[in-house]
Amino acid sequence: MFFLLSTVFACLHLPLGKQGFPILSARPHLAPFFVSVPCRAEPDTAHSPIFLGWGGLRRGKLARIGKPCLGKRAELETVVSRWYLRCRDNRKGDSMSEMIGFIGLGNMGQAMANSLLKAGYTLTVYNRTLSKAEALTAKGARLAHQPGEAVTKGGTVISMVANDQALEEIVMSQGFLERLGPGGIHLSMSTLSPETSRKLAQLHAQHHSIYLAAPVFGRPEAAATQKLWICLSGPAIAKERIQPVLNALGQGIFDFGEDPGAANIVKLCGNFLLLSAMEAMAEALTLAEKSGLDRSAVIDMLTHTMFSAPVYQIYGKMIAERRHTPAGFRQTLGLKDINLVRDVAEHSTMPMPLASLLHDRLLAGIAKGRGDMDWSALSLDVLENAGLEFQIPKTVTPS
Ligand SMILES: NC(=O)c1ccc[n+]([C@@H]2O[C@H](COP(=O)([O-])OP(=O)(O)OC[C@H]3O[C@@H](n4cnc5c(N)ncnc54)[C@H](OP(=O)(O)O)[C@@H]3O)[C@@H](O)[C@H]2O)c1
Repeated sequence: MFFLLSTVFACLHLPLGKQGFPILSARPHLAPFFVSVPCRAEPDTAHSPIFLGWGGLRRGKLARIGKPCLGKRAELETVVSRWYLRCRDNRKGDSMSEMIGFIGLGNMGQAMANSLLKAGYTLTVYNRTLSKAEALTAKGARLAHQPGEAVTKGGTVISMVANDQALEEIVMSQGFLERLGPGGIHLSMSTLSPETSRKLAQLHAQHHSIYLAAPVFGRPEAAATQKLWICLSGPAIAKERIQPVLNALGQGIFDFGEDPGAANIVKLCGNFLLLSAMEAMAEALTLAEKSGLDRSAVIDMLTHTMFSAPVYQIYGKMIAERRHTPAGFRQTLGLKDINLVRDVAEHSTMPMPLASLLHDRLLAGIAKGRGDMDWSALSLDVLENAGLEFQIPKTVTPS
């Protein structure tokens, strides 16, 4: 005890937010307080802070203490994040006045950012190709020239980029993690590998911010009408705060717990099922055509009866009509996803013969110059193998 007291530095660390809350306000808010102890066990740090508990100051005096306890440095990360979130929630005013950063304005991101503007949020947008931000800046969004410029301290940033590598480059870019800082939330909505999500979640935690995985189901048309289905996973503490933002983007949110990789796995399972359904429809409709039947009439009957789910209705029509441009979701991105599915399967020591077939189907389409077509264009490979003739549109509209 004597040792502890004699080594405690008589300094209270009271982290103050940018907004100036809450320590010196008239009403005492709870804030984490902790002391610095010189610590030989951690030579890389001058002091090892010990978390003592929650407390509030009024006119410089300790006015309230909540659940005091002792904890170590590791606990501080969560404590400080919790504190910032609590203070933000206590703040007066509309959450929509919060500036949200949005990174990645491709087919999906463009529509999603637009939905947030429509819902009344103030946005700062970033896209690698800056010109793609013009439609949004014309509607009042602020333009960021670097990913880090779209991030505000303790704020919310959303990413919707092509793949794992793109997101890692963004997160590692100058200022991104440093600016997001304590209480900041990164809502990562791209389709990624679960491993990347777990790695990035750790990296965020080291900077006292929170990474939430929130991949989506639904094409750009669904994104434009707030009809996405959102899978969510990551620390529970951030989920409540992000709820209004998710509500402005989708029609349903499904929480898969705290493992940041969990939502990504659900998304990959879903995309595997989508591709499998497309392959099955392509084979069935090619069989019908080879037998002298009208493809559209066949899919029309099936999707009005046993197969009345959106996946059959939407993709069935596209496959029947051989309409694969403009792409809602490019074949190259489909290949990325089936590769992610196979990686998870490999990691889990699980053969997935259908995934291997789908991989080859997409790869063949890309080798034949159809990478920028919609992923439903995998059906063209089925037609080719059956010796059927078809017209490829001369100009492929890049997405
Ligand atoms: N389209 C769909 O139907 C759909 C549905 C659900 C989920 N998703 C997922 O949503 C994500 C986005 O899909 P999308 O269809 O919007 O793709 P997209 O139209 O190809 O857009 C990709 C976005 O990522 C950016 N990007 C690519 N590489 C980058 C890099 N190295 N650094 C920085 N930015 C980079 C692109 O910037 P540039 O403009 O500069 O190229 C663009 O903003 C993907 O993970 C996809 O799997 C798509």
